[in-house]
Amino acid sequence: MTLLSVENLSKRFSSGGRQVAALHDVSFMLAAGETLGLVGASGSGKSTLARILMRLIPADAGRIRFDGEDWLALTGPELRRRRAKMQMVFQDVLGAFNPRATVASVLDDPLRIHGIVPKNERPKEIATLLDRVGLSASYAERSIREVSGGQRQRIAIARAIATRPLLIVLDEAVSALDVSIRGKILELLVELQEERGIAYLFVSHDLAVLRAVSHRIAVMDAGRLVETGTARQVIDNPQSSAARALIAAVPRFATGTSAGISEGHDS
Ligand SMILES: Nc1ncnc2c1ncn2[C@@H]1O[C@H](COP(=O)(O)OP(=O)(O)O)[C@@H](O)[C@H]1O
Ligand SMILES: [Mg+2]
Repeated sequence: MTLLSVENLSKRFSSGGRQVAALHDVSFMLAAGETLGLVGASGSGKSTLARILMRLIPADAGRIRFDGEDWLALTGPELRRRRAKMQMVFQDVLGAFNPRATVASVLDDPLRIHGIVPKNERPKEIATLLDRVGLSASYAERSIREVSGGQRQRIAIARAIATRPLLIVLDEAVSALDVSIRGKILELLVELQEERGIAYLFVSHDLAVLRAVSHRIAVMDAGRLVETGTARQVIDNPQSSAARALIAAVPRFATGTSAGISEGHDS
């Protein structure tokens, strides 16, 4: 079943009198429970797409259907209610929070705002969320600045799943993490998807990361979506020069063998 369809999305920015076509006529679909990896060089328009999806910035043209609704037409309380169904994990989303905010308050916000559980059950729900992302309940009283980068991303994931979303948009969500921690976070995301049927739009400049988690991969180049296929098709038999350049940037892909790569869902 199609969860998300993006049709002919375009967005221009003007900076210093110069026009940049950050997105040009981008179309794709995402099924419920599917992971679409969105890859592209820096500046290719990935974050612009993520931000339009999250309704953080407007599009110039195009349509988005999400969960059966005209997503760009939603406004006010209607939009606030529906936002629970589409959550986001940025590279360091909690870094933007007040560093003195406690982990409990960061997780309590979405539960309160979206009325996920009754007030008296929220502390228990917070403990359950922490446990689900591999953190003990004692983390609740720590402040954001007291936890490591990897733990912060676990908390960001807990915050994203708190509202029981259908889709999580991840924008370079593991890019800043050490390789060993990154692997654990990717495992957690795959487990959560299998458990809850969440779809992911997984934005990364790193094909090796996307190979490990994506059912399909879409390749962006200078604001255009130039190629879409299964992870295996795109990596083993790239059709676009943009995909070939991204593959060449991953040493173990550039050898032309997939040996030693953790298997993705399409295998
Ligand atoms: N707020 C903005 N103002 C002006 N230009 C922007 C803005 N946001 C993004 N851009 C430009 O749009 C293009 C795409 O940027 P972005 O979506 O951030 O790419 P990516 O996430 O793939 O690195 C780049 O040329 C970038 O400089
Ligand atoms: Mg970006």
